[in-house]
Amino acid sequence: MQKGEVVILRGNIVFTPEEKSFSVYENSYLVACHGRVEGIFTKLPEQYQNISVHDCGNGLIIPGFVDLHTHASQYGQRGLGLDYTLLDWLREYTFKEENKFSDPVYATHTYQAFTEEVIAQGTTRVVAFATIHQQSTRILCEILARRGVGAYVGKVNMDDNCPSFMKENTQKSLQETEAFIYEWMDHPLVKPIITPRFAPTCSRTLLEGLGKFAAQYKLPVQSHLSENVSEIKWVQELFPECKEYHQVYQQYKLFGQTPTVMAHCVHMSEEAIQSMRENQVIAVHCPDSNMNLTSGIMPLRKLLNNGVKVGLGTDIGAGHSLSMPQTIVKTIQLSKIRSLFEKKEEPLTLSEVFYLATKGGGNFFGRVGSFERGYWLDALVISQEAAVTPLSPLEKLQQFIYTGTPACITARYINGKKINF
Ligand code: GUN
Ligand code: FE
Repeated sequence: MQKGEVVILRGNIVFTPEEKSFSVYENSYLVACHGRVEGIFTKLPEQYQNISVHDCGNGLIIPGFVDLHTHASQYGQRGLGLDYTLLDWLREYTFKEENKFSDPVYATHTYQAFTEEVIAQGTTRVVAFATIHQQSTRILCEILARRGVGAYVGKVNMDDNCPSFMKENTQKSLQETEAFIYEWMDHPLVKPIITPRFAPTCSRTLLEGLGKFAAQYKLPVQSHLSENVSEIKWVQELFPECKEYHQVYQQYKLFGQTPTVMAHCVHMSEEAIQSMRENQVIAVHCPDSNMNLTSGIMPLRKLLNNGVKVGLGTDIGAGHSLSMPQTIVKTIQLSKIRSLFEKKEEPLTLSEVFYLATKGGGNFFGRVGSFERGYWLDALVISQEAAVTPLSPLEKLQQFIYTGTPACITARYINGKKINF
């Protein structure tokens, strides 16, 4: 074994191989080879004895966070216009902000700031919307790749029912998407994802073309689903041939034919839930966004009980923060509120939601989000000292999730590579 191929971290290792509880290994060694976890050891095996160890002292070693839905292009508008609900917010703020990405200089500034904040917050993998602009989308990919962040990036497609300055020509939209796919499909860390913005802003021809690309190039898909009551009503008017919103995506093969993430899924019929499960479409819960735009509360427990896979997303700029720990907290809080008026829906526990933010979402990237053997070593070192009373490793994790800041994260690894920060 060459020295450079092995990474060894020593500290208090905490992760969730399963939802129901944390696995805790105090004062142990986490060993990775060629970027992937070899094992966890209380005593370092002989063959690693001459390799240097990153000693994290009393600190925690946890998996990096996975943000399954966010808009890199809306980084500059965080916190703005959040007295609106979805459709007015899109019209009054979002489309205008995204229009600025026709300028590659503006895109570079925003995407650099976005990427640094993603890293600061301890997110190691992100599924992101860019904008309709091919050149700016490429810039986002280049910046993420240069910084070593794992990502799926979407060039947004929209050719209908939006302001003329954001409305793409259908054929050009498809051509540029295909060119973008060719540029990035073989990159090991930053990859393209098919990204119809949402059903209302896409023509049938566009959706059909995108469904074909997903199949032809074996690419995953991301979009929005059932976020807001007015949006759902609008979809019913625009696509009267579909009884339900999700059927629009389904009829164009954008609903689980390849791995698919759908943000929000707040207002879901039994049929829609069943279809999510059957097609293995992942629902992305975005609590800040749903509260800020008064969209509703996702029936998260019900989705899980019905076998739907779920991940978590920050959804900036409708969400106002790229913090996944805060997204975990809000998810738990919303599930508690929902349980008060939906008696069958028990609140979620910290280990369940930590799982969603690591291994649950990480599954979209392959073997990511856990420290089981064979998983990519995406890890954070947390060095938050308890202010008042000594804490166990698990208590330290609880306190970090609820009160931690980026300053508590003292090292970050992605695919076994230490990120300079
Ligand atoms: N639906 C369509 N576009 C968007 C967007 O940019 N943000 C959110 N939250 N929902 C959307
Ligand atoms: Fe979104």
